[in-house]
Amino acid sequence: MRELGYQPNALARSLRRKKTHIIGVIVPDSANPFFAEVTRALEVALFKQQYAVILGNSDGDLERERLYTNTLVEKQVDGIVFVAVGQTGQEHALLIQKMQMPLVLVDRDVPRLAVDSVLADNAQGGRLATEHLLALGHRRIGCITGPSDLTPSADRVTGYRNALASAQIPIDETIIRKGDFQFQSGFDAARQLLTLPQPPTAIFACNDLSAVGAVSAAVALGLRVPQDVSVVGFDDVPLASFANPPLTTIHQPSHEMGALAAEILLGRLQNRELPPRRKLLETRLVVRQSTAPPNR
Ligand code: RIB
Repeated sequence: MRELGYQPNALARSLRRKKTHIIGVIVPDSANPFFAEVTRALEVALFKQQYAVILGNSDGDLERERLYTNTLVEKQVDGIVFVAVGQTGQEHALLIQKMQMPLVLVDRDVPRLAVDSVLADNAQGGRLATEHLLALGHRRIGCITGPSDLTPSADRVTGYRNALASAQIPIDETIIRKGDFQFQSGFDAARQLLTLPQPPTAIFACNDLSAVGAVSAAVALGLRVPQDVSVVGFDDVPLASFANPPLTTIHQPSHEMGALAAEILLGRLQNRELPPRRKLLETRLVVRQSTAPPNR
């Protein structure tokens, strides 16, 4: 074999074995460090079990997500780990299920789809972030959301609202601004909030990239973080601890999510009859230097 440079025909072997030993992964933003952390942990766990990974970046685009879904199903990968573009992406998860392809949803739930899933407790995280700011003495707390059709963002905002309601603080809808989980939207939303006649003294941003964008906007307006305005993010990506100032945030267990998704998928490949496993992982507050009591 070595002399002839012979390479076994993987296609022929997979047809014979009805296994490709390849797992497809579809994420909505491969440039976002959260998804990089999840897919790295996933790939490490799968590689240990002799599975290779094909990563598809839907880039938040439904058409791309459709293309990758169809391609991975046609290539007969052994299973798919799927992070939906949004609510509308659920049709692609349904397609995968209809093709009896083992499927694990990560990070974004698809309602009414009884399949394996690994999610974080986003409402808990939104509440923890807001309660932290309330405990510091903030009463006017702005919120920069993620895309409104994403369950993680909607649940974080629910946690924010619940924490304010528990503290008997009326919700001011004018200081809840839409973002898209990217730096720029955090910058733009924070600039709007911080130039209001009565600006919030603190901002809860629904992911770290938009939180870093918010900090940049505060600095651009000549404000100090946290002295003049406190900022809390969500994810706890590596960037958070190296931001300036280091970001107080909500830790999402991205490594555990990836490793658990691999474990659940491998278990499903061993036994297709297993009942769906739905895991909800805890989030927790990580206090750094971007929050402080309001500047009276
Ligand atoms: O930062 C990207 C966001 O999209 C994360 O908060 C993750 O939960 C995903 O939904």
